[in-house]
Amino acid sequence: MSRYLRLGVNIDHVATIRNARGGKHPDPVRAAQMAVAAGADGITAHLREDRRHISDEDIERLVREIDRPLNLEMAATEEMLTIALRHKPHAVCLVPERREERTTEGGLDVAGQHNHVAPFVRELAATKIRVSLFIEANVTQIAVASKIGAHVVELHTGAYCEAHVHGDFAERDRILARLKAGAKEAARLGLEVHAGHGLSFETVGPVAAIPEVVELNIGHFLVGEAIFTGFDASIRRMRQLMDEARGNAGAQFA
Ligand code: PXP
Repeated sequence: MSRYLRLGVNIDHVATIRNARGGKHPDPVRAAQMAVAAGADGITAHLREDRRHISDEDIERLVREIDRPLNLEMAATEEMLTIALRHKPHAVCLVPERREERTTEGGLDVAGQHNHVAPFVRELAATKIRVSLFIEANVTQIAVASKIGAHVVELHTGAYCEAHVHGDFAERDRILARLKAGAKEAARLGLEVHAGHGLSFETVGPVAAIPEVVELNIGHFLVGEAIFTGFDASIRRMRQLMDEARGNAGAQFA
């Protein structure tokens, strides 16, 4: 197993706070620079159709000013494809998007929508952008992701984290088992495996310990925790917990 687990820091919610007042502070690009200094291996940003947090200008500046891989999360739409092809980020993660949702609630139904998704994967891959699909850890979704030529699958950890937060530990552990099996199956098919959504200091360990997972993308918790300890300290602590879990592949909840 690859011992080193990459951390992609998602800076969307720095932009959420900025947009609450419509000005320039806090600047997500400055946050991205801090994240890199604190040990982030990459920066993740979700340009939503409704531009509720990250803006087009943020993406332009991230491409120009950040010297780490940018992972652009976006819906599979013509508008977003044009933007991605213009900026050529290191990676694009295709995510489902509904305007009314609070966050990305559930993975992309790549099995049900492969006719729609496949051309986006092809066009992005043709320009050397790494293409990731944000999916549930489900064997059918994983098989179709592989079939349509994705390089990466990012396994959705949202339900696992929700179950933990609600104290439903039996459900949490069932979902964790599915994440482990999904990661194994994806790797067997030659896909690179990432995971993310909702991860916190409490939930990161067992996901970080899944040997096939090589990258975690984490945002909301880190930005929230920054209020109490600072952004730098929250990222460093997350990095430390990831490294500890990786050193101890059997990490379990205490
Ligand atoms: N990965 C993907 C594909 C996402 O859409 C998000 C949220 O934008 C994240 C990871 C990060 O989730 P969170 O902000 O809850 O850590």
